[in-house]
Amino acid sequence: MMIKKYVFGNPYETGATVLPVEPAGGIPERFRFAAETGTFSYTMKEKDLVFGLGETVRGINKRGWIYVSNNADDPEHNENRISLYASQNFLLVDDGTECFGVFVDNPGSVTFDIGYTDPDVLSIHPEYNDTSFYVIEGETPAGIVGTFRELIGKSYVPPVWAFGYGQSRWGYKTAEDIREVAAGYKALGIPLDMIYMDIDYMQDFKDFTVNPERFPEFADFVREMKAEGIRLIPIIDAGVKMETGYDVYEEGKAKGYFCKKENGEDLVAAVWPGKVHFPDFLNREASDWFGDKYQVLTDAGIEGFWNDMNEPAIFYTEDHLKEVFAQIKEFEQKELDIWGFFEFKDVVGSIANHPEDYRRFYHKFHGQKVRHDRVHNLYGFYMTKSAAESFARNCPEKKILLFSRASYTGMHRYGGVWTGDNCSRWSHLLMNIQMMPGLNMNGFLYSGADIGGFGGNTTEDLMLRWVAFGIFTPLFRNHSALGTREQELYRFERKEDFKHLIELRYALIPYIYREFLKAAETNGMYMMPLWFAYREDERCREVEDQLLVGDALMIAPVYEQNKTGRYVYLPESMRMLRFRAYNDYDSEVLPAGDHYVKAALNEVLVFLRPGCELPLATPARHVEQIDEKQLTRIIFAKP
Ligand code: GLC
Repeated sequence: MMIKKYVFGNPYETGATVLPVEPAGGIPERFRFAAETGTFSYTMKEKDLVFGLGETVRGINKRGWIYVSNNADDPEHNENRISLYASQNFLLVDDGTECFGVFVDNPGSVTFDIGYTDPDVLSIHPEYNDTSFYVIEGETPAGIVGTFRELIGKSYVPPVWAFGYGQSRWGYKTAEDIREVAAGYKALGIPLDMIYMDIDYMQDFKDFTVNPERFPEFADFVREMKAEGIRLIPIIDAGVKMETGYDVYEEGKAKGYFCKKENGEDLVAAVWPGKVHFPDFLNREASDWFGDKYQVLTDAGIEGFWNDMNEPAIFYTEDHLKEVFAQIKEFEQKELDIWGFFEFKDVVGSIANHPEDYRRFYHKFHGQKVRHDRVHNLYGFYMTKSAAESFARNCPEKKILLFSRASYTGMHRYGGVWTGDNCSRWSHLLMNIQMMPGLNMNGFLYSGADIGGFGGNTTEDLMLRWVAFGIFTPLFRNHSALGTREQELYRFERKEDFKHLIELRYALIPYIYREFLKAAETNGMYMMPLWFAYREDERCREVEDQLLVGDALMIAPVYEQNKTGRYVYLPESMRMLRFRAYNDYDSEVLPAGDHYVKAALNEVLVFLRPGCELPLATPARHVEQIDEKQLTRIIFAKP
């Protein structure tokens, strides 16, 4: 058997897996288990590489850091972070001759210490050890990934138009703002398929409402934009505003569908709308009820959504705020020395996303009362599942675009992910590149980052380089935060260059879509580390800034400021294509080995593998206008 399952305690039915596996007895093969601490450990061989964990900081090889699966609303994605928005608990260990995979199905907090405490030891420690621990055997990394993906089920495939380019920004307040964005792209003939609607479209940030003054006749507006070839993609947040008369609030309250505290009262937290209750997506009935609400928008012609703040993010809870105020009063009476001052600062800083708050509320999960922290990482997954199931129920004829910020393994069957609030930093472009293989391994094929960076002010050169990489990520969305520099592509100086880049994406869509579907159908990876394909080449162990995209291509993005080229390692001879536009490129066959290659700000490096061909379409302004029959083919015959 390729998959061995070991059961500890009483694991929850998380829905991560779809394949029934009979548990084996004893301790997971290759691991030691310290029952007193509940820690599994494996001594890493010198040459072991560790891949996986999906949306996490640092390199493709995860060795040398500690990661905690504990979905967190944290926009500061620096190298010292241990948790981001997602928990994707699959790892693959490979020394080049022997490899195995591990999947830890436990929806509470799980620590993966991959050589942080002891450089040679990989240890896995679930906070509550009610765990299904899987060990997956196989001959090759790709084979193990395939077996793991059979275990967790097929990946979500979005509608084909979702492979187009999307423009987003927090701050499009009116229909007029959105028309302006569409017009900005149209005037320059830059392809565009989606405009995202952030929280500004809602009435007082209430889910499933549309502000009637700023978006009058919403269904007409959706139709008008669609006639322009553009789909509007609204955001839905997890928290439901507490407001008398608001149907979602009133119904949820009356039916008992919100998460409750120990004393049976609904938890009061605050997010964008002010005070909110959290729907209990883990409760089957509540999930169906909330899912059905999306119909208000699908009925108005909406065909895609992004689910947000579903870790869930908590600005504060009423209970903890009271505690903080009480403590502040105490501090007010004291003469603060410097340590007292730091204590005070910590108290004030503890208001948002306070760990204790995640232990204050409960779910009704499979009919049982379960404290939130034990199943924390399922919340965003179940919100997204609730939406996806409702689409299957209510509009099965439509294909809906759906992705989420928080996720857990298993959610990949229902939607994609974006990687949350990154920043306009060069290091975050590299992070985007390095996150993609881990996301793919965990089944999250439809994924991508906020291109250009969400927080902070982007620059034109960063934007050019980020778009040049984003061309290859299935989710291709430019998004930025309120108050930051506006980064719609038509606002920059080098408008033609941006146009050519986006057109190149559209020319590549037949290839991208085909390779994406292949990965989804065969449980493969759309974006892979070089090592997975060139395991006999020791050099490929350390290639962390080049990726394989589908079966035919390798990419080598430029991700540093003021660079006019970069070093590239070729494990075998490849045809290098240096695109300035889909119909303007240099082509050169390079031998295996190291090369310094030029890549100006408007150029994209693509490497065609031997025996492969790259189909290119003539770009269109919208995906559905691409003529799949009229393809030019660039070929690199096996030398
Ligand atoms: C969160 C999301 C971000 C969005 C903002 C306002 O920070 O991650 O994408 O723009 O909320 O809704």
